[in-house]
Amino acid sequence: MELVFATNNAHKLEEVRQILGDRFTVLSLKEIGCTEDIPETGDTFQDNALQKARYVKEHYGYDCFADDTGLEVKALDGAPGVHSARYAGNHDSEANVSKLLHELEKKSDRSAQFRTVVALLLNGQEVLFEGIVTGRIGTERHGDGGFGYDPVFIPDGYDVTFSEMPPESKNLISHRGRAVRKLADYLKLL
Ligand code: IMP
Repeated sequence: MELVFATNNAHKLEEVRQILGDRFTVLSLKEIGCTEDIPETGDTFQDNALQKARYVKEHYGYDCFADDTGLEVKALDGAPGVHSARYAGNHDSEANVSKLLHELEKKSDRSAQFRTVVALLLNGQEVLFEGIVTGRIGTERHGDGGFGYDPVFIPDGYDVTFSEMPPESKNLISHRGRAVRKLADYLKLL
């Protein structure tokens, strides 16, 4: 089965291809000729994921799925949340992580979670899938793998950050892994 994943993020694409394996052929936006930034103006992950999927259907005619993800930090009342990409600068992960570490300097509770919502648009139907992983924010960056906030996110039950894990291990427990496996289970039932 061939599916378009509405993202321009190479890291996400690689993760999702690894999670779905060879049961599905995942096409990137570049592969369908879409190189522009798709607007993400919603107030929730759900709104943004749907907005991206609908944009691709409307402008390119493909059924597809899209994800929207954010980091929710308890001591920051759920921030950066839906603003995770632009927390300190526009899609500047270095600056975003620095700001997060700074905001948490005087907080004792460093618990946080990643949340992903995947929106599937298929045969005129919209279906949503959610994945969450709980953990905590470390006091400094560790590891070279992954992307975004991975160098400071330590999932529950582990002593290492997502950036220190092999990609397969991150995918097994991650927010995106959980949401995308729900998507795969749904597609298998069709
Ligand atoms: P978006 O889903 O592309 O809007 O991502 C929102 C923000 O969360 C961006 O700053 C990403 O770098 C970050 N992000 C998304 N997924 C992950 C992840 O799996 N690990 C770490 N950061 C992520």
